[in-house]
Amino acid sequence: MTATKGLEGIIAAQSSICSIVDGVLCYGGINVDELAEKASFEEVVYLLWNGKLPNRSQLDELNKNLGENAAVPKEVIDSIRSYPQGVHPMAILRTAVSLLGLYDQEAQDMSAEANLRKSIRLMAQTPTIVAAYARIRKGLEPVDPDPKMSLAENFLYMLTGEKPSETAIKAFNTALILHADHELNASTFAARVTVATLTDIYSGIVSAIGTLKGPLHGGANEAVAAMLAEIGSLENVEPYIRHALDNKQKIMGFGHRVYKNGDPRAKWLREMSKALTKQVGKEELYQMSVKIEEMVTSEKGLLPNVDFYSASVYTALGLESDLFTPIFAISRMSGWTAHIMEQYENNRLIRPRAEYTGPVNQHYIPIDQR
Ligand code: COA
Repeated sequence: MTATKGLEGIIAAQSSICSIVDGVLCYGGINVDELAEKASFEEVVYLLWNGKLPNRSQLDELNKNLGENAAVPKEVIDSIRSYPQGVHPMAILRTAVSLLGLYDQEAQDMSAEANLRKSIRLMAQTPTIVAAYARIRKGLEPVDPDPKMSLAENFLYMLTGEKPSETAIKAFNTALILHADHELNASTFAARVTVATLTDIYSGIVSAIGTLKGPLHGGANEAVAAMLAEIGSLENVEPYIRHALDNKQKIMGFGHRVYKNGDPRAKWLREMSKALTKQVGKEELYQMSVKIEEMVTSEKGLLPNVDFYSASVYTALGLESDLFTPIFAISRMSGWTAHIMEQYENNRLIRPRAEYTGPVNQHYIPIDQR
């Protein structure tokens, strides 16, 4: 038995939700480029859950369900108020989502209907939790969700209490679509492994959130923002990146396990970064990002991934950098729940083997002889 480090290239599941073939990303067979241009995030949620786009009445019903379920139990909000200061928002989200499971009467109901209802609640309530925490930590009261707003609009509204601009809603909607699903990425795999034991959906989502939090996965977008802040100006890019490359440091937001010829989502975020940073007078962030890309690509042959330009996009939207990964989680909740439901439909315990590399033929030595 020989291990494949990082399970690279291993086909670990069959799935009809999302495909990456020859560098082209599709949800339900539809190129993500087309969805990013034309769809609403809610249509994408429906597509991931059902394998086809909704007709008007199906979409109306989903929108209604998401709107009606966006409020979070008061106990969860009260609990968030008591969490320690200075904790990472992903740890807050992981804990608060776990708590949602305690207050969900259907948490242990494993029927497909109940799991769909729980998926709707998880999808609807995650933005509410993130926005509520973002306000609570500043000493502000959470803003109640508006059931008539789209998910993108509602999240931005709940953060500030003010109606966001059409530009911001459109950009945020596109960002949500681009992050919605990505086949067997680490957090989705973690969710599938968890629920393949036939535990409940909340346990699967808690695994997924904990996995997304790491800087090699979803945490990379926040790390990119930290890097941009540390670099500080266009003229500092060159020495900073040169020093990092010379010292074999990882440049966050570059490289990908699957895409070796470029992440198809990055071009969208690059364009959005260009337009949005210009609008808010933060063009230097975009220029710095382009310069970093030029250097890392020419010197290491590495291309930017989804997280690289999303950092400047979210910064231009006025979002705080430690909320970037929770925002990724809001979007990926659609994919996680889709994969969990698919796993339940045709389940088998996921239990691979390990290649043993430890000592052999050892014996127990009594403790006072060690
Ligand atoms: N900066 C510098 N070097 C990088 C790099 C980066 N961002 N990403 C990969 N490399 C280098 C590795 O050091 C390795 O070099 P080596 O062969 O000389 O040791 C080589 O490229 C292959 O990378 P590897 O770590 O084996 O790729 P992986 O498939 O295991 O990892 C990532 C993929 C995404 C985890 C990795 O590219 C990375 O850490 N990127 C930064 C974090 C990030 O942006 N994550 C978000 C992913 S969407």
